[in-house]
Amino acid sequence: TLVIDTQHPGAKVSSRLHGIFFEEISHGGEGGLYAELIQNRGFEESTIPPGCTLDSGWLVPPRTSHFASNKVSDWKMPWEPKSPWPAWSLRTAANARASLSLSTKVPLHAATPHALQVDIHSAGKADSVSVVNEGFWGIRVDKGESYNLTTYIRAPKFKGAVTASLRASDGRILASYTFNNVKQSSWRKYTCTVKATASDAKAKFYLTMSSPGTIWFDLVSLFPARTFKNRPNGMRPDLANYLADLKPAFVRWPGGCFVEGISTESAPEWKRSLGPIEERPGTYSPWGYWSSDGIGYHEFLQFCEDIGADAMYVFNCGVSCEMRSGVFLPDDKIPALVQNILDGIEYAIGPADSKWGAVRARNGHPQPFPLRYVEVGNEQVGTRYATRFNIFYKAIKEKYPQLEVITSTGIAHVHKPTIDAVTKTDIVDEHAYKAVYWPMIYHDWYDKYPRKDWKLYVGEYACNSGVGSGNMLAALNDAVFIMGMERNGDLVAMSSYAPLLENINDTDWPVNLIRFDNASSFARTSYYTIKMMNDHKASENVAVSLTFHSSTSTPVARYSGNIGLSTWDTYAEFKNIQILDKNNKVLYAADLINHKNDWKTEGGKWTIGDSVIAQTADGAWPMAILQNKIPDVYTLRLKARKTGG
Ligand code: AHR
Repeated sequence: TLVIDTQHPGAKVSSRLHGIFFEEISHGGEGGLYAELIQNRGFEESTIPPGCTLDSGWLVPPRTSHFASNKVSDWKMPWEPKSPWPAWSLRTAANARASLSLSTKVPLHAATPHALQVDIHSAGKADSVSVVNEGFWGIRVDKGESYNLTTYIRAPKFKGAVTASLRASDGRILASYTFNNVKQSSWRKYTCTVKATASDAKAKFYLTMSSPGTIWFDLVSLFPARTFKNRPNGMRPDLANYLADLKPAFVRWPGGCFVEGISTESAPEWKRSLGPIEERPGTYSPWGYWSSDGIGYHEFLQFCEDIGADAMYVFNCGVSCEMRSGVFLPDDKIPALVQNILDGIEYAIGPADSKWGAVRARNGHPQPFPLRYVEVGNEQVGTRYATRFNIFYKAIKEKYPQLEVITSTGIAHVHKPTIDAVTKTDIVDEHAYKAVYWPMIYHDWYDKYPRKDWKLYVGEYACNSGVGSGNMLAALNDAVFIMGMERNGDLVAMSSYAPLLENINDTDWPVNLIRFDNASSFARTSYYTIKMMNDHKASENVAVSLTFHSSTSTPVARYSGNIGLSTWDTYAEFKNIQILDKNNKVLYAADLINHKNDWKTEGGKWTIGDSVIAQTADGAWPMAILQNKIPDVYTLRLKARKTGG
């Protein structure tokens, strides 16, 4: 019997429950949402991130003494660029000789010091020396579409033609344009628009020279003429439309770990992401590659306005990624940091005649942008963070009381000392990556959550282990999790699934909402789950009770589940895991050994009698299911002893 009691309404469902979380991870922006087609357009991608050093192929961030782990893979990162000019290569005909070098002698702009120098020793016939860009794992070219090229050339020791072309994987020319009589002693901007005469999903971009000499290139940028809302320096329409179609209440930007940086010096900074693209130095993502900052602070705010969402700006609060580096800027640097964030807020919402509001106006947007939230750091914990948060909170609220300021503790109830040391906050951001079935087993998680004088923002959630790269089962788990958030609208005000975007050619995280390559894109079932639940959002809860009367129903004799074990130690071994029934009979015993350094835990599958009851699957982070409640069938208890690691 199902009783729905409309006389006793429960909590209202938050009208801003569903937002989106953008981070520069898995090339979500660079080679993703950002429509730029040239990879490493400014030749800055082999730059060691500020504050770091390179040691035998490892990128080494600065470390603080409080960081516990000495395991190399916990704090150093493999250095990914395999060439000084990633994504570019030289092609010469048999009779030509040329060489490439990365030049810092004649920077186009001090903030972007590198340029590509091409020395053409002998050119032979036309079409004999080319520098080729592979795009982001290919360039999609569509017949009849136009592409806008911008590049800077310096050619004091060169005289001749430079041909820009898009070529299919079989070498066919799809579009081309020739700049004749290129010769000048200083940098000069060249632009053209080309129209494709044929299509190819894996095209490449060529700059071809037919004369000997030395020529420098910088900022080689190619955009499809069609971008989202046709904005210059814009976004890829298919991906941007997925985001717009979700009708998110807000957009959180720019991360995630990206906000933290692997060093304080390399962390993102809104001021560096403004202005002409050739003057943006870019930001090194802790996910192992450079972002050109093409989607900078202004573009983010503009995108929010374009899709009718509020903006949530997350800023680095003077501490680098705790996992790898954990450097806190000294306290005497904090006042300048506070001022920098106040400036950033002024850029977004200050009047057009304020100092930074005027810069916004000069950048083409006199009206304020819809900035409503600011978040202080990402997944920061500890009383030192809390002390810093208190300073930021006070300064921001004094000047902008209308803004909601978010504490970023990662998991609020786990990091209670952090929250206890926070004097006052509006919203707490808690992250919830869950293994398969966790959301179902703990469907009442938020029902039992203590209420405080702040709202909860589940800033990152996903059922993301035991579900491959995301499947229907993951979507069902996400749906149950969302229902738990809806039911607790008095506590959970906001949420965003994470990560959002994944270029399948460089995956940094196992399960993501929207997957794509350079030519096509695919939103997972979880995307449509969120969309459906947002499009048909309930306004309030009503009391419901459900009573079972039948005594003839067959008890569920089969349970399919996943047990994940989690550890920060990437080489851990869990020995002799046992599943016991309620009489302490051992139903299953096995070892789970994780020596792959990939955050995953492996194992076999286990059975009760003839039925498969659970199957270990990959992925265990960050929440282990240590106790499975299987009503009316068994109570399973998991015993594990950790050795190694
Ligand atoms: O979403 C992927 C990562 O998970 C985010 O960068 C970080 O905030 C979290 O740990």
